[in-house]
Parts: sequence; C-alpha cells; structure tokens
Amino acid sequence: MNPNKALWEKGDFTEIAALMRQSGEAVVKSLGLTPPLRVLDLGCGDGTTAVPLARMGAEVVGIDIARNLVEAGNKRAAEAGLDRLTFQEGDACNLAGVEDHSFDLTLTVFGAMFAPKPFEVAREMVRVTRPGGRIVMGNWIPSDPTSFVSQLLKISSSFTPPPPEGFVSPMTWGVESHILERFGQAGVPKEKIAMAKDTFHFISPDKSPAQLVECFRQFYGPTMNAFAAAQKDGKVEELHQQLLELAKAQNQSSNGGTSIPATFLRVTVCP
Ligand SMILES: C[S@@+](CC[C@H](N)C(=O)[O-])C[C@H]1O[C@@H](n2cnc3c(N)ncnc32)[C@H](O)[C@@H]1O
Repeated sequence: MNPNKALWEKGDFTEIAALMRQSGEAVVKSLGLTPPLRVLDLGCGDGTTAVPLARMGAEVVGIDIARNLVEAGNKRAAEAGLDRLTFQEGDACNLAGVEDHSFDLTLTVFGAMFAPKPFEVAREMVRVTRPGGRIVMGNWIPSDPTSFVSQLLKISSSFTPPPPEGFVSPMTWGVESHILERFGQAGVPKEKIAMAKDTFHFISPDKSPAQLVECFRQFYGPTMNAFAAAQKDGKVEELHQQLLELAKAQNQSSNGGTSIPATFLRVTVCP
C-alpha cells in the first residue's frame, strides 16, 4: 500500500474539515473568479473549497488520494445537487489521464503539499493548467509559530520515529526558495510566482480547544500516528499536553468554542 495514501485513509479528515468550511469559502471568494471556468481542486478532501467553487458556477474536478474522502466528496456533491462537481481518486505526483492544459485554475489548499514528490507535483500542476491560467496553493509555513497546523505537525513528528531516508517534509512547500526551485524546474520563471501570507481559521462554536485536540487525535492520520508512537514510549500524556497548550494558546474564542487563526503561505503561479 502507498504510505501516502494509507496515511490519509487512516483517519477521517471530514471531521477536521468541518471546522474549515468558513475559510474554505473565503479562499474561493478571494480568488475573484468569473465563470465559466474549469477548476481542478487537488488534494481536495471532501470538498471544503471544491463545493463553494461549484456553487459559484465553475465546473470542478476534485482529485484526492484518499478513497474515503473521494466518496465523502461525491456524497456532498450529490446532496447539494452540484452536478458539475465530481471527485475522483488520483495522486498529485502523477495525474495520469488528466489532459494537458485542461484547467483554467488549479487550486490546492493544504492538499498537494502532502504529496511525497514535490518536483513531480509542480510539474503536473503546470502541465494540466492552461497557459494564461492560474495555480493557487495554500501551504502551511514551518518557521511560523502562528501557522497552527505546522506547529501541530512539528509536535506530532517529535513523538514519531524518524521518517525513511529520502522523505521530503511537506512543510518545505511553505519555504519560498523551495517553491521557486520546484516551479522553476517545471519551466515557470520566478517573475510569474507570487507569495503572500494569509490567514485560515479553524472554527467551531461548540468544540473547545480540548475537543479539537481530541478530534485531531482520533481522526487526523499524522496525529493518530504520533499518539500510537507515544503510546509505545509511554509519552501519551506529554504529547497530549503539548497539543493542548498549542490549541489553547492560539484559540481566540471567548465563549467556550474554538476559533484558531492559522497563518499560511498563498502561492500564485501564472504559467
Ligand atoms: C489537510 S487535507 C486538506 C483537504 C482539503 N483541501 C481541505 O482544505 O479541506 C490534505 C488532503 O490532501 C490529500 N492528499 C495527500 N496526498 C495526496 C496526493 N499525493 N495526491 C492527492 N491528494 C493527496 C489527502 O488525502 C487530504 O484529503
């Protein structure tokens, strides 16, 4: 089994995605799109951005490596009556079967950054996007203490065994030099690449930060693996405390719920 696929099918990302809907819609709005247009949402999960894209009239293909999330996305599309939105299984490292230059926009919000071969991912995104179109990536930033998920993953990985040799951290997609190098190798000069910090929000009126941590513990593959490793080492309580401190420190809700702003790097590429 492909370990990248196994990691994302292990949990149930829909439980985390439920806290991301508002910002997903905001990201889509901020793109200033005017249909008709064809959009690829890569690493789409169950459609946090794909659903609002389709609601505003775009024809949308969501591609994700996790079978369970593709199923969940297709269910959401059917329930919402969005017949120009389809989800299918695929790997951002190799979009075999997707035609060259077939999308006006390729969007990937915390999606393609998790694919293991970043140079292939950049090449594939450039290949399937039409010249004059756009690629937009949302990536967590490793060096930024306000980039909530990067910090959560940093804590989680400090409790897990070292990754296999040759593993490239997804967080490198939050570093400007790597982005320029990857798209550069895909034929895009640096003048056609813009980067800016932006903020995503994890919002739940009825889940406390402690319940949010529990949600990551139960449903988010990388955190599930960290807890499994911590269990073997007798460090579960230490891991739990560190994640709880992080979530509480970043939470801005004052009514018992959760509202965590999370800084990310928005990368816009015009191939
Ligand atoms: C953090 S989730 C984000 C999901 C969605 N974009 C959202 O904002 O709710 C990461 C997603 O990337 C997908 N993913 C990871 N590796 C992938 C790959 N190689 N190809 C396609 N999708 C991948 C996962 O299955 C998961 O749905």
